[in-house]
Amino acid sequence: MEKTRMISDLHDIYERWIDDIELDILLTKKCNLNCIHCFLDNKDGEMGIDTIRRIVSDEFFVLHSQNKKRVVNLSGGEIFMRKDIGEIFSLFRDLNVSVGCVSNGFYISDDSVELLEENHIDLSLSMDGVNEIHNYYRRNDISFNKLEYAIERLLKSKVRFGVVCSVSRINKDYIEEIIKYCINRKIRSIRFQVVKPEGNALAMQEDNLILDDSEKQELFEKLLHYCGKYVADINITGYGTFKSELREHGCKFGLKWGKTCHSNTTPWPKSFGIDTAGNIIQIHPFHSNEFWKIGHIDEGLFNVISRYYASDKHIALLTTLKETYEENILKSPEEFIFEDLYLEDKVAEKIASSCKR
Ligand SMILES: C[S@@+](CC[C@H](N)C(=O)[O-])C[C@H]1O[C@@H](n2cnc3c(N)ncnc32)[C@H](O)[C@@H]1O
Ligand code: SF4
Repeated sequence: MEKTRMISDLHDIYERWIDDIELDILLTKKCNLNCIHCFLDNKDGEMGIDTIRRIVSDEFFVLHSQNKKRVVNLSGGEIFMRKDIGEIFSLFRDLNVSVGCVSNGFYISDDSVELLEENHIDLSLSMDGVNEIHNYYRRNDISFNKLEYAIERLLKSKVRFGVVCSVSRINKDYIEEIIKYCINRKIRSIRFQVVKPEGNALAMQEDNLILDDSEKQELFEKLLHYCGKYVADINITGYGTFKSELREHGCKFGLKWGKTCHSNTTPWPKSFGIDTAGNIIQIHPFHSNEFWKIGHIDEGLFNVISRYYASDKHIALLTTLKETYEENILKSPEEFIFEDLYLEDKVAEKIASSCKR
């Protein structure tokens, strides 16, 4: 009965859901660096240009992005290592979508800035500290110089760009220094996220370099303070939500949707990933376990996504999400900070352990 009601509620908000879906397209896993914190567990694989053409010509864009600014993220690896990145950008230019990407800044040159500019692509540059700290993270002595050059060049352009910083015990005491550096360079936005112990960062965990819960809490409070202190200078985005807020506004995490919370919210997944081999993945292109795969781009993106909606696989995800919320969030101490990806990570852990059984 519960399942039947869930399916019927899902069908009621299908149009709103499909309009809001974002895409995370993993263009390449190749990278020029091998950072100490990188979550990628291997750096092989690149998406073929025919797969990219297949994606942009799909009904999903052609018929279902007409009235909306759909968001697409081009992710990597280092996407600017691709010689055909200009062609890829231009494939997205004529769609009614807002496109963003993240880069380590190494290949930002006059040519790449021009490509970003003429194709209206937003950019996030990774910056983990000022000078040595950044170079230490990136295991590369000229990494920060490259970043400074990229920032200088971007400031002379019309490209919308900001900075993203991954925080661990290495840089947690230098947050204000990073913010001030950005303000002095007239950078208008900075986003902080915490380093997750995956891939190379598993070694950081062994070396006790990953933030524990109380450090995450401290950092979050510091960021709230800096948000106020520098409100006129820069937009600072944190990485978490208090338990009380989650309980009140569970819709933010796809927990309450449709009739039960804010009327404009939709259920998980809010985004789908496409990995370099063309697999379509619930939520995130880095999930490799079979549970997360819902189809392949050869079957058609729109076909796969609409077939998935309210299917057994979708219901299984929503049920696991609800159970995880009840077990992990409701039973936690009050005023505890939950990272943006907390629920997704816990759900992934739960699914991985049930697949092993
Ligand atoms: C995987 S990288 C790809 C883009 C590009 N190569 C770069 O480093 O900017 C995307 C973002 O994830 C961050 N990142 C990498 N490993 C991480 C981890 N273990 N935890 C949190 N963020 C991480 C990077 O610093 C970067 O900002
Ligand atoms: S964090 Fe980015 S730059 Fe560093 S190794 Fe990973 S993909 Fe490459």
